[in-house]
Amino acid sequence: MHPIAPFPHARPRRLRRTPWIRDLVAEHRLTASDLIWPIFVREGTDVAEPVASLPGVDRLSVDRAVRAAEEAAGLGIPCLALFPYTEAKDKNREATEAWNPENLVCRATRAIKAAVPEIGVLLDVALDPYNADGHDGLVRDGVILNDETLVALERMALVQAAAGCDILGPSDMMDGRIGVIRAALERDGFQDTAIMSYAAKYASCFYGPFRDAVGATGALKGDKKSYQMDPANTDEALREVAADLAEGADMVMVKPGLPYLDVCARVKAEFGVPTYAYQISGEYAMIEAAAANGWLDGEKAMLETLLAFKRAGCDGILTYFAPRVARLLGG
Ligand code: PBG
Repeated sequence: MHPIAPFPHARPRRLRRTPWIRDLVAEHRLTASDLIWPIFVREGTDVAEPVASLPGVDRLSVDRAVRAAEEAAGLGIPCLALFPYTEAKDKNREATEAWNPENLVCRATRAIKAAVPEIGVLLDVALDPYNADGHDGLVRDGVILNDETLVALERMALVQAAAGCDILGPSDMMDGRIGVIRAALERDGFQDTAIMSYAAKYASCFYGPFRDAVGATGALKGDKKSYQMDPANTDEALREVAADLAEGADMVMVKPGLPYLDVCARVKAEFGVPTYAYQISGEYAMIEAAAANGWLDGEKAMLETLLAFKRAGCDGILTYFAPRVARLLGG
């Protein structure tokens, strides 16, 4: 008996019936090669020190960071991002440790590139881990100084490039920094050092656990709203990206990630350049906290959020989940 009601001919559910057909019609896929793994480096030998607000993430001594690089290479993760945990004694108001060629990230970069040359190393260019004021720029009378900071960033970028860093990630949001860094790299023979600019970086509450991890939490005076972007704005993000590309950025980043997927999608659609998102510390911590309480399936949340970045048009994602997800994907 045929039912009388007008049953549908178009049935999207036909293509959702079984795993194989879902695989066949999947528009986006996450792979280990999409991942950049951020790692925190500290002094010492054979140390892995947990970061309380980032469960599962440790601060690693340089030798252990090399082991992590070997692990990443084995898992098919193309690139690491290194961040230093800086002790208070190495911080001052000029952030001079930032351009010490023997600083932690420079030593770690050299060790990693020597042991695992096939893996990429990305380093932040910003003064905050080294600045006694906790800001990404130099501070005078409570004001973040743009052009004085550019001079410091140029020096920092050059020692990092000399250490063998493959990609510099200016994350400071000072005006004009990409142009200054690109010009210095060209002048000093680092034509092949790429720049991934933190082009649209928002003044976000989600950076909290990262600031713990690098030891900046106690140091930071005030907020970063005079240089990081207002979460209310998207057109401005496009202007930031346009400026950074014009100044010589090779790749651009949106940060944080999940709350700013609209920005990722607009940036990719508008410019068509290699576009990355940083699933930052607070995003990671939220998932971990919910999973630890049994409120979410952490593994599924990890995969779903990372796939969302691909759907939004990102070419890759910086994520603390990188080794876990790569293992899961069978990399
Ligand atoms: C520093 C920097 C920050 C992050 C990366 N580089 C923090 C900040 O701007 O305060 C955050 C990364 C994260 O939260 O995981 N310029």
